[in-house]
Amino acid sequence: MTTASTPYLSVRDLKVHFPTVDGIVKATDGLSFDLERGKTLGIVGESGSGKSVSSSTILGLHRGTNAQVSGEILLDGTNLLDLDREEMRRMRGREVSMIFQDPLSAMHPYYTVGNQLMEAYQVHHKVGKKVAKARAVEMLDRVGIPNPDKRVNDYPHQFSGGMRQRAMIAMGLINDPGLLIADEPTTALDVTVQAQILDLLQDLQREFNSAIIIITHDLGVVAEMADDVLVMYAGRAVEYGPCNEILTHPEMPYTWGLLSSVPDVAGDTEARLVPIPGSPPSLLNPPSGCAFHPRCAHRDKVPGDLCRTDLPELVAGARGGHHLKRCHLPDPDAIYLTEVLPEIAPDLAKEL
Ligand SMILES: Nc1ncnc2c1ncn2[C@@H]1O[C@H](COP(=O)(O)OP(=O)(O)OP(=O)(O)O)[C@@H](O)[C@H]1O
Ligand code: SF4
Ligand SMILES: [Mg+2]
Repeated sequence: MTTASTPYLSVRDLKVHFPTVDGIVKATDGLSFDLERGKTLGIVGESGSGKSVSSSTILGLHRGTNAQVSGEILLDGTNLLDLDREEMRRMRGREVSMIFQDPLSAMHPYYTVGNQLMEAYQVHHKVGKKVAKARAVEMLDRVGIPNPDKRVNDYPHQFSGGMRQRAMIAMGLINDPGLLIADEPTTALDVTVQAQILDLLQDLQREFNSAIIIITHDLGVVAEMADDVLVMYAGRAVEYGPCNEILTHPEMPYTWGLLSSVPDVAGDTEARLVPIPGSPPSLLNPPSGCAFHPRCAHRDKVPGDLCRTDLPELVAGARGGHHLKRCHLPDPDAIYLTEVLPEIAPDLAKEL
């Protein structure tokens, strides 16, 4: 059981490495974070930074692949990496479930939405078809599908994109899981539907008291949903801490770059969009030292050649709390407030 001192989910030094003919792809390279029930962690980072590999490993989806996994994934005190295949299968969908980015490919086209919901329920509950169907209709109703008793008999292609995403959420929550992982749950949707889905997830979280991990490229989604944020770069956490703190006092130039690409998160009408130069590194041969150094505009402020030669540790930020950052810069808060913020959000910078 979880006690006050042991969080519901505790990931410790998780490594997921893939040996390939060209070398080892270190998709996740020493990730640690905690999450309580009723709270949301946003994992954010560019494409290929290891977000999906890390979260699907929590769900045991690395099994049967060539992945080399180490570390601990403690859920309510049980290390999921110690479970055998059958134990993990029982855990998946009941205690931990996942909403995938593309519901059309995650749902089977030849079975009705109702049948897929019923199956998800019956895998973990010894109930007949009638009870399972009633549960499927109830869940479709909960996620706002109109006429759920009729729509339960539709096939996935008969649902709109937003409705399919709602149905995926219904499937993810049908067994009342403690932990829900939502991997880019709204990227395929237009802005209005996206906002509705995020509201729905928050309502359901309050009702079910689930812990949620939401994976996204979009700091706007993080600002709306997350209590804590973990910024990933090249398979590692580069900044981690309370959402408000990271959005207002980020201490790592990569996070500054992410904020610069969505500057209106802070509500500045004069905000300027400044994309991060260059592209994400290969995880096969990541850059030496700080993996962000080839793209970092601030490395000259660090003495010597440290950024290129030494990997910064993940250490406490200047303002305390559980804000951690991985960067050699001596006074990042001052640089952010005097150099970066005036560039990306001049209105906001003037107010501070
Ligand atoms: N089975 C595998 N074998 C080798 N490399 C893999 C394997 N699965 C994933 N990878 C690599 O791991 C890295 C991280 O992938 P991951 O899917 O976690 O990225 P992501 O952060 O979710 O990106 P996106 O935002 O595009 O979804 C990528 O470089 C990917 O190519
Ligand atoms: S360690 Fe150096 S290269 Fe890396 S983010 Fe900090 S300043 Fe930039
Ligand atoms: Mg992904």
